[in-house]
Amino acid sequence: MVKKGRVFSGARPTGRQHLGNLLGAIQNYVALQDEYDCVYCVVDLHALTTLQDTHLLRSNTYEMVLDWLSAGMDPDKSIIFVQSHVPQVTELHTILSMVTPMGWLSRLPTFKEKVRQQPDNVNYGLLGYPVLMAADIALYRADTVPVGEDQVPHLEFTREIVRRFNSQFGQVLVEPQPKLTATPRIMGLDGVHKMSKSLDNHIEIAATPEEIQKRVMTMVTDPARRYRSDPGNPDICNVHILHQIFSRTPGRTDEIAHACRHAGIGCVEHKREFARDLAEALAPLRERRAEFERDPDRIWDILADGARRAGEIADQTMGEVKEAVGLP
Ligand code: TYM
Repeated sequence: MVKKGRVFSGARPTGRQHLGNLLGAIQNYVALQDEYDCVYCVVDLHALTTLQDTHLLRSNTYEMVLDWLSAGMDPDKSIIFVQSHVPQVTELHTILSMVTPMGWLSRLPTFKEKVRQQPDNVNYGLLGYPVLMAADIALYRADTVPVGEDQVPHLEFTREIVRRFNSQFGQVLVEPQPKLTATPRIMGLDGVHKMSKSLDNHIEIAATPEEIQKRVMTMVTDPARRYRSDPGNPDICNVHILHQIFSRTPGRTDEIAHACRHAGIGCVEHKREFARDLAEALAPLRERRAEFERDPDRIWDILADGARRAGEIADQTMGEVKEAVGLP
């Protein structure tokens, strides 16, 4: 079958993945596998920009790839590998940095946010983070990049860098488009910030039913609804929003929304029902995860094979890039 194009995406090795990763990105990684030629990467070099616990990189990589496979990413269909195992990306990063204006980097909202988060560790790698990301995407000549909404500015940046490179050196690199899911921004348990592990406002996709129940019970609902007898507003309730995605019974979340508006159901009751549905929806992933866990070596074999296949594409791109740039 002729594939529609090349997909590339990456994620930092943050260990067990959360519902935001699943609904914003992994869902599309899986969905695109049949129609596209897919390359998925554990971006361990990117993780170095923020991570103090670098000794966790190995176990975090393992846990993340377990989640990927249990969600349906398939090494027979896609290349799955670790960024640092194909070091050509650092070479392309250096070359792309020469066509990157400093002002573009320091103005990016993601950079400003990191400066706020870690004022004592504003390193050069943090500023160059989007250049390394552009190098990831360009190295594998991806035209389609499944990501959550927070990564869209990085994709816009990548497109501009690719355009600048091509206008200077010829049409060598491919301009990529972001591909979002229907749920590109999942909010955390607090209902205020985007779901993320660093804010500890997440639910892991590998969580047990008990862990799910515990986490769901802490979720913030409609803040204006103080008593069970108050009518609620499901449109701004994160439990309702997530329940619509994971509900097991057609029409049930509409019923709940109606009842909520008339104080016919309480938040605690609704959370219990959501937690049950979520645990049930994630059960097949938990089961597949347990199977993969029985053979840890298999994960590392998959990543080694992925690096070999990714390296072939990388060599080809770098040959053309170096020639275009005029490196002797
Ligand atoms: P990272 O590791 O933060 O997240 C991995 C993917 O999960 C998505 N995501 C979310 N989507 C919706 N709602 C949320 N709450 C949520 N949290 C995370 C992210 O948008 C992302 O798609 N810079 C990237 C990694 C990267 C990359 C790349 C991505 C490096 N090189 C090249 C694409 C292409 C990052 O830190 O993602």
